[in-house]
Amino acid sequence: MLFKKFIIPLLFLTLATLVFQSCNNSEEKVPPKKEHTTWSSYLGDPGRSHYSTLSQITKENAKELKVAWSYEAADWGQMQMNPLVVDSILYGVTAALRVVALNSESGKEIWQFGDSVKVWHSTSRGLSYWEKGKDKRILVTRGPDLFALNALTGKPIPSFGDNGKIDMRSGMLESAKEKFVISNTPGTIYKDIIVMPLRLSEGVGAAPGDVMAFNVITGKLEWVFHTIPHPGEEGYETWENKNAYKSDVVGAANNWAGMAVDEEAGIIYIPTGSAAPDFYGGDRLGSNLYANCLLALDANSGERLWHFQFTHHDIWDRDPPAPPNLLMVERDGKKIPAVAQVTKQGYVYVFHRITGAPLFDIEEVPVPSSTLVGEKAWPTQPIPVMPKPFARQSQDLTDADISPFAENKDELLELYNSADKRQYAPPALSPVFLFPGYDGAAEWGGAATDPEDGILYVNANEMAWNLQVGLEDGISEATPIGKATYQKYCISCHQADRKGLVASGYPSLLDLQLRKEKDEVAAIIVQGKGMMTGFPQLKKEEKEALLSFLWGQEVQPNGIEKEGIATNQTEPQKKGYKHTGYDKFLDNNGLPGISPPWGTMHAIDLNTGEYIWSIPLGDTPELGEKGKGTGTENYGGPVVTENGLLFIGATRDGYFRVFDKHTGEILWEYKLPAAAFATPAMYEVNGKQYIAIACGGEKLGTEKGNQIVAFALETP
Ligand code: HEC
Repeated sequence: MLFKKFIIPLLFLTLATLVFQSCNNSEEKVPPKKEHTTWSSYLGDPGRSHYSTLSQITKENAKELKVAWSYEAADWGQMQMNPLVVDSILYGVTAALRVVALNSESGKEIWQFGDSVKVWHSTSRGLSYWEKGKDKRILVTRGPDLFALNALTGKPIPSFGDNGKIDMRSGMLESAKEKFVISNTPGTIYKDIIVMPLRLSEGVGAAPGDVMAFNVITGKLEWVFHTIPHPGEEGYETWENKNAYKSDVVGAANNWAGMAVDEEAGIIYIPTGSAAPDFYGGDRLGSNLYANCLLALDANSGERLWHFQFTHHDIWDRDPPAPPNLLMVERDGKKIPAVAQVTKQGYVYVFHRITGAPLFDIEEVPVPSSTLVGEKAWPTQPIPVMPKPFARQSQDLTDADISPFAENKDELLELYNSADKRQYAPPALSPVFLFPGYDGAAEWGGAATDPEDGILYVNANEMAWNLQVGLEDGISEATPIGKATYQKYCISCHQADRKGLVASGYPSLLDLQLRKEKDEVAAIIVQGKGMMTGFPQLKKEEKEALLSFLWGQEVQPNGIEKEGIATNQTEPQKKGYKHTGYDKFLDNNGLPGISPPWGTMHAIDLNTGEYIWSIPLGDTPELGEKGKGTGTENYGGPVVTENGLLFIGATRDGYFRVFDKHTGEILWEYKLPAAAFATPAMYEVNGKQYIAIACGGEKLGTEKGNQIVAFALETP
């Protein structure tokens, strides 16, 4: 460890010196301030700033905001998308992945894409826009396909790939071509290429998380970066499993959260997720580079310039959940180009954008070792000295942190006291208190920044979960195929009894036949739905048997209809470990088992590492007056303006709010038609400033919605 602690800073120094010499004091030249008046890129700009310099809406008049228009989509449910606005057109994606182009002043539909292609039960966080002269394109995914659409007509562009689309798996090894590969975050455009985030399985059999760049004009593959290195590539030595890159067990280490690009420097910043399987790393011992990293790649070639690993040998699913933010910070009176990454753990890591040198010290802290057979937890994890985490941490909680609203306090306390609360306590056969939880403190909504003044605005969740693994049920040759398939792929979320973990968002699969058609369930199994990844790799007979099992019609090989457990005539296979499910720490009313705040919003000064303010975000209406200021679980990010406003939906209570970005004081709130688990977009058309947000609800047990709502001042 000593080695790591000293060699890494040394490497940074050498690299820094080299870069500074070749750049000739580039640090002295402060790039000119950029205009932020459009929203043609995911989250506002390629630096993912969530930021606007439009100034018609002010602290004084924000309370006069009115609905300017609302658009009703053809389908209902989760819309996590951040709209794009180009000229006078707003582009969005609906719950069933239809792409819509709307008049950004009236909300009237101009075109729609998606009725003629298969509807997917996935979610989309948005789309990408590219233009060259008159050629204007929208790039959007559906399943494994990346489409290029004519931005003015919505028609696929025939000269792109195969009649307007490419299969993103085309850049992967042959062995990955049947696996679950989709993308729910828009690609990052740099010159004429698009670099694609991927959503993969997080269990056994995930595809490798290759980062692929495709040509926007032709659809051809431009470059690939192997996040699980192939033999001969750097980082290969960090996997004890020499076949990890082509394994049928191990995979992922994918970027799913999206990326940022510094167009001037030609560097793309890519946060990568954990390797799969998520919670047991016995088949992937080692530090597992380039999983859980911030990768800085040459955007032209895909060559690695520097990287930093946030979690070594991740066995907690600690994927960096959002694109990094590019911003300028001040050090010793000088402006430095920085990149900041918010994490599920609640830490913000800040680096020099060019050299990768940490701008606050990061310490390798010893962490507990694993008790599971075959597992080796990494002995240390990197923790920044500043800023302090923006969410409470499990190891700091005390008995006083059980929710004061819980009626079953004793029961909660018992569970809580039986759980391992040490920081980075590894998964075990007994409960681990995962806090911040699986989805993190920061989640996919990400952070907003004022890119010039170094302030970061991040919303967070404070939700505790029970993390535990169990011994795998033996699957033997006598286990009917359907049941065996269920045990292998479905049990961790829908549970052995098929009752799911409903309060945590994992539905029961009992009585499916009363609620759903077999065809629909077959489609869900292949494509996934919401948080569930799909299983296209299932063989036809496995899928059919699984459906029969779910329909209660599984038949034994001897033709006798069987319920319950198969009699095992042969020896069960060697047992492994399985994750026992995503189990939220909730009280008997379904509210969080720990004390509030359950959701928060923070302004952090990355020049100094100090907090400017922190507030609870959202209310809990179930608790009446007492629910004011408890904060709620929230998904989706903020938008800040130069003139001092912070806009955010995201909360489970379904409000859209405006805060004073300097003080955290609330200026206005509005009850949306459905909760907005999404980041808004700010734009101007014909002299009027708008902010638009998708309200699809559905997540966290809220009502479904189908609207995109835009706000403006009546008489600006
Ligand atoms: C990683 C967790 C996870 C795994 C593994 C998983 N699911 Fe799901 N599943 C979910 C979640 C979450 C939902 C709810 C999705 C939504 O509606 O947004 C869901 C929904 C479903 C639904 C729709 C239920 C309804 O009432 O609408 C079906 C059917 C289903 N899953 C079947 C399966 C089968 C079969 C498997 C195994 C092949 C499986 N799931 C594996 C998490 C999972």
